[in-house]
Amino acid sequence: MFNPYLLMTLLYIALAVLAALDSSLAGLNVLPWFNGLRWLRIHLITLGTLTEVIFAVLPGLVAERTGQPRPKTRWDIWLTLNAGLLILLIGIPLVNAALIFTGGTLVFVAATLLIAQLNGLRTTTPTSTLTGRRFYLAGLSYLLLGIIVGTGLWLGWGAALRIAVPIEVHIHANNWGFMSLVFAGLLVDLSASFTQRPLAWPRSITPIFWMMTSGALLLVLGPWLKNEALSVPGIVLHLSATGWLLMNVIKPVWADRRKWSPGLWHILTGYVWIIAPVLVAPLIILKVPGFPGAGIEQNAPQALIYGWVLQFGYALVPYLFARFFLPNQPARPGGNWFSLITVHAGGVLLWASIFAGDAQPALHAMAYAFWAASLVPIVLDLWRIAREGLGRFEHARVESITDDPAGAN
Ligand code: HEM
Repeated sequence: MFNPYLLMTLLYIALAVLAALDSSLAGLNVLPWFNGLRWLRIHLITLGTLTEVIFAVLPGLVAERTGQPRPKTRWDIWLTLNAGLLILLIGIPLVNAALIFTGGTLVFVAATLLIAQLNGLRTTTPTSTLTGRRFYLAGLSYLLLGIIVGTGLWLGWGAALRIAVPIEVHIHANNWGFMSLVFAGLLVDLSASFTQRPLAWPRSITPIFWMMTSGALLLVLGPWLKNEALSVPGIVLHLSATGWLLMNVIKPVWADRRKWSPGLWHILTGYVWIIAPVLVAPLIILKVPGFPGAGIEQNAPQALIYGWVLQFGYALVPYLFARFFLPNQPARPGGNWFSLITVHAGGVLLWASIFAGDAQPALHAMAYAFWAASLVPIVLDLWRIAREGLGRFEHARVESITDDPAGAN
């Protein structure tokens, strides 16, 4: 089955390797002239790879899980999203207000259209509480908020909206709201295909949904109003729900070592990098002397994106590629032991760099070199799957044209 989002995913994840490599070389002063493309590095992963793949899969997945026919590709949504992404990829590094506004608006419209499409895939079947649909709808609503705040970051909207710390609101809406909730929905929908076992406690999914959604809201309101009394219960709610969800996946396969593929390790251990900033947050808030609060605020978002968001993608994206491009073969979560070890080594080195004093640039560069290396097997795998799948597609087309030279097909 052809899915146009997946080819864009392949393009952006391949660019993400170059961006990580560039950061590593720039850190070692080998390529200093490429520095300053920090936005691109993060958003090639968050928007270019994960958002693209989320748009690729949600309508079909919701339809499949609720027993409805697969919806047709919505080319209007594809075009709006990708036009918006391309305009942002140019506009943000140039800090061009008109381009940022246009790009942000197009991505906002694409997300709204996707929400409307998923909303239309409503169902009355009794199994509906055990699908990820409501996680997707809530997650995409947080994306809308994240887009408004992100688009306004360099347009002065933060002050108009009375946001105390706009960049944190942007990161929290997108990470704790959008990504966390959509990933949770994907675990609800796909973990049985990853582990060949159902979730341990299906009835826990409803409380998990409400805990995550309200936790994310408190985590957005915390920096919006600069009030830690909101962020702390938010993080407790959110993390307990996440732990509960992961236990739902882990418990059924706990004793069965054969099920513990590198892909499953990628998904589960990626969540370690969500906890790292949470553990040091109290030390930043209390301004403990000698503790590099500024360095952490500067670097923690990148460790979170490469360690958690990207790693979830390592398992998810090759799995989805295989499902779409090679439907006759069994699909497995992606990644291997090399990608698992190198991606975690990157996270450890990045965190070590924050505390390393003079060794900071070298460790920082090594972190990005490890992350770039970890991406390589994933990108090669995606390339192989896409080529094989498209090759068969072309072959089938050629055969159908030769069988029917009049072109009736
Ligand atoms: C239309 C969509 C988006 C727009 C317009 C946008 C815009 C921005 C801008 C202007 C920055 C500040 C960059 C800087 O200070 O150097 C930023 C940072 C950031 N954004 Fe977004 N963003 C969008 C979507 C997302 C999504 C979907 C995520 C998902 C997690 C995300 C995660 C982040 C993170 C983690 C940072 C901090 C990067 C760092 O500190 O290096 N953004 N974004």
